[in-house]
Amino acid sequence: MIRIGSIGAGNRGRIVKLANQPDEGSVLVGICDRDAQVRDEYQQEFGSELLVCDDYRELLDRAELDAVFITTPDYLHEEHAVAALERGLAVYLEKPMAITIQGCDRILDTAQRYGGKLYVGHNMRFFPVMQKIKEIIDEGTIGQVQAVWCRHFVDYGGDAYFKDWHSEQRYSTGLLLQKGAHDIDMIHWFGGGYTRRVVGMGKLSVYNQVKDRRADHEQSSVAFNKDNWPPLTQKGLSPLIDVEDHSMMLMQLDNGVQASYTQCHYTPDGQRNYTIIGTQGRIENYGDHSSDEHEAQIHLWTKRIASQLNQHQTITIPTREGSHGGADPEIINDFLRFVRTGHNDGATPNDARMSVAAGVLATQSIRQHNQPFDVKPRVHTVPERQVTEYPKIAIP
Ligand SMILES: NC(=O)c1ccc[n+]([C@@H]2O[C@H](COP(=O)([O-])OP(=O)(O)OC[C@H]3O[C@@H](n4cnc5c(N)ncnc54)[C@H](O)[C@@H]3O)[C@@H](O)[C@H]2O)c1
Repeated sequence: MIRIGSIGAGNRGRIVKLANQPDEGSVLVGICDRDAQVRDEYQQEFGSELLVCDDYRELLDRAELDAVFITTPDYLHEEHAVAALERGLAVYLEKPMAITIQGCDRILDTAQRYGGKLYVGHNMRFFPVMQKIKEIIDEGTIGQVQAVWCRHFVDYGGDAYFKDWHSEQRYSTGLLLQKGAHDIDMIHWFGGGYTRRVVGMGKLSVYNQVKDRRADHEQSSVAFNKDNWPPLTQKGLSPLIDVEDHSMMLMQLDNGVQASYTQCHYTPDGQRNYTIIGTQGRIENYGDHSSDEHEAQIHLWTKRIASQLNQHQTITIPTREGSHGGADPEIINDFLRFVRTGHNDGATPNDARMSVAAGVLATQSIRQHNQPFDVKPRVHTVPERQVTEYPKIAIP
């Protein structure tokens, strides 16, 4: 039985409930959250058997664990992941791996030194739309990939990111990293390489103009509401906002593929729109996942078209059960498989590190007169030979 704990069990942290599969051999045994309401929720749902506490050290010391989910805000990932890995636990760590490159490398070194299994929650690898795009690329339908562009319209920036910790550099570094870590990883996946050179431009353009701010001591009031429109009428934004609300980055991958990612936090519509251009065609998606309200589509052009824009193949992606278009149950099962067997289909820890590295340096470029930066691979400080045996977990 895989005994699972959770650090930061509210909001995104509720994905840990998907891993509680006692009949399949994994069980939630403890959670830690600083929010009393979250602790009560879990105690009621899982009963008095569940260890519930507010300090991660207590969870790691008192609960007998094989694996832990770390779903706290980004600036805590490094501290929490290092502590869990030092105990040799298998770790599901939410993206982005950390908010600095050094933080990622410390996590990777710790995983290597203590033999803990590290898995980073890049759930977009399991979005059916993204998997289909990858399949089309891998089949060679558009020839050799030359360019990957992503436009990301975030319609809820003012409902959420500019109301809580996300709005401050010291907690998130910036939204190009925070939100973009997913997409930079997709760009690397579709492009078949890692970013080698990056340049960024962007600024805080709209939310700095909003005068209605909460006081420092007040709780943030994140609330997704389509009536919060236009962006300048948002209420209760963070007292300090020092991250960009519009950013753009250009990337050259190590295999010569060129890429761009643009992100805006005050659009009326929400959409992630990728274009992949190869030597024999082009792919573009509309919608990143299907739901009851809308069906995502992938459009594919593999020959020159005359004037009619609709001369292309359209692939409609069916709706799947589960959040993020069915990706969340898939990634949790992939993690459990990783804990049991050491094999998985998701992003590798180095993939996660390289998306952070590109996002951090693009943000640095924005803030340092748009100068380009080279992205360096991780320097291995821990000899490979020090990797210890993974703790054995009985397969049910
Ligand atoms: N992969 C995805 O689709 C996806 C979606 C949303 C969020 N995320 C990631 O999940 C993480 C959490 O995001 P969120 O929006 O749920 O954040 P959040 O601010 O809501 O925090 C999550 C939980 O952690 C708890 N927490 C905060 N500080 C803590 C501490 N010191 N000790 C114990 N518990 C603490 C909070 O009370 C909350 O219950 C982030 O890293 C974010 O990037 C990923």
